Amino acid sequence: MAEQVATNITFHEGTVSAEERIANMGQKGATLWFTGLSASGKSTIAVAVEQVLVARGHHVYCLDGDNIRMGLNKNLGFSAEDRAENIRRIGEVSKLFADAGVLSIASFISPYTVDRDAVRTLHADNGVPYFECYIDCSLEAAEERDPKGLYKKARAGEIKGFTGIDDPYEEPTTPELHIKTHEDDLETCVAKVVEFIEAQNLFG
Ligand code: ADX
Repeated sequence: MAEQVATNITFHEGTVSAEERIANMGQKGATLWFTGLSASGKSTIAVAVEQVLVARGHHVYCLDGDNIRMGLNKNLGFSAEDRAENIRRIGEVSKLFADAGVLSIASFISPYTVDRDAVRTLHADNGVPYFECYIDCSLEAAEERDPKGLYKKARAGEIKGFTGIDDPYEEPTTPELHIKTHEDDLETCVAKVVEFIEAQNLFG
């Protein structure tokens, strides 16, 4: 876990109350965290859910592993330490989005339970609603899809430490939502997530 490096800093409180923010946005901010193997369908489901919820007038934003790794997290690779830092930063970003009144959908493999639990704790400590959603897909099905050809490369030894091949994925044991993309079609998966999030009393 990252150490506090800077000294002589003081937290500066804002004056906009949580109630004012909720009234202004017409919703309560929250984080919907998608975890699962590469090619499990995280990003595909996330953008479809975002589209549905935005069309209903909600404030929603997708934070996506591949995309964030091209910007904020471009200095991180795929060692356990770098994955931990990747998830820590996005945990902080999603907490800030929630504080601003936005529902963020964070799609990251996030293979380690300890890193996911740290994000959950960060949200709980700050009173921010947090929902872990396991985008479950068998390795066989993910490998079969292989939209970016990465499993093929990993099997050929051209990528080292690829999640599910020669790097671990620790399955969530008690996610708030469990979606099985090797059983349900995209439309059904999206409908299940939308129904779940609409039931959380976030939207006015
Ligand atoms: S995480 O493990 O740190 O949560 P993240 O979700 O940000 O990963 O990025 C995963 C994406 O990076 C994959 O969808 C894939 O496109 C790409 N990738 C490249 N190398 C690897 C690797 N060794 N393991 C997993 N994904 C990788």
